[in-house]
Amino acid sequence: MIILQRTEDMTQWSREQRARGKRIGFVPTMGFLHPGHLSLVEFAKIQGRCSQTVMSIFVNPTQFGPNEDFEKYPRDFERDRKLAEQAGIDALFYPAADDMYEKFARTFVEVEGMGKVMCGVTRPTHFRGVTTVVNKLLNIVEPHVAVFGQKDAQQFLIIKRMVQDLFMPVEVLMAPIVRENDGLAMSSRNVYLNPNERKDAVCLSQALNIAQAMIAHGETHSTRLTDAMRMHIEKHASARIDYIAIVDTENLLPILQIQKSSLIALAVYIGKTRLIDNIIIS
Ligand code: PAF
Repeated sequence: MIILQRTEDMTQWSREQRARGKRIGFVPTMGFLHPGHLSLVEFAKIQGRCSQTVMSIFVNPTQFGPNEDFEKYPRDFERDRKLAEQAGIDALFYPAADDMYEKFARTFVEVEGMGKVMCGVTRPTHFRGVTTVVNKLLNIVEPHVAVFGQKDAQQFLIIKRMVQDLFMPVEVLMAPIVRENDGLAMSSRNVYLNPNERKDAVCLSQALNIAQAMIAHGETHSTRLTDAMRMHIEKHASARIDYIAIVDTENLLPILQIQKSSLIALAVYIGKTRLIDNIIIS
């Protein structure tokens, strides 16, 4: 595995692979890798049919709000390097913040509307930071395929919109959520949970299972589904609901009834840690 830090070196490596007829799969991450990230690599290779895989590790400052966990966000490059190598990554891109955002940088990319709902209500600048950095990364890496996890479904749907709106020459794929044995969605932020919070954290996936079971029994009303989810989560002492949303996957607008492609998503504070999870009904 080659480690590339300079943006020019990354682009040059990709162009050489392309010249050799290789198909490049890209997995952007903020590091502190867990099996969820590694499953994205596998997905790029199998579903994306990629012969070369690139992973980036960059804790992107512009997607953190002023009072969020940018400084505290877990980082361990040496551990990540080993895991990436074991996962069969060919090139690890590890840029410096000054290169990604040079002193006079003034350009942001924003998908209107979709970034202001759901997670965007409490994190109003988050998705602007995500689309800006993903745009930069795609321009630097020039992959054929980029893979994102379903856990961040809102992020994926916004990126998909951006790629389509800007005619970006890349295929974006969404890989399924990887869960712990009890159902908790894997996340780098799970390390913040104390043992009691860790127990309560399972209420997110349980609430989604309740909704899924109700839908399987014919329930389609969003309010009845969200009420049942809310009731379940509120039984857990350390849980405080940020939002529960049932939306159309195309535009993230709320829907009154479950329809062909609906996203049921929620964000819940467990103690001080904000966790997200979702299911897609299709
Ligand atoms: O999902 C993430 O880890 C980040 O939002 C991403 C896509 C790497 C952009 O910083």
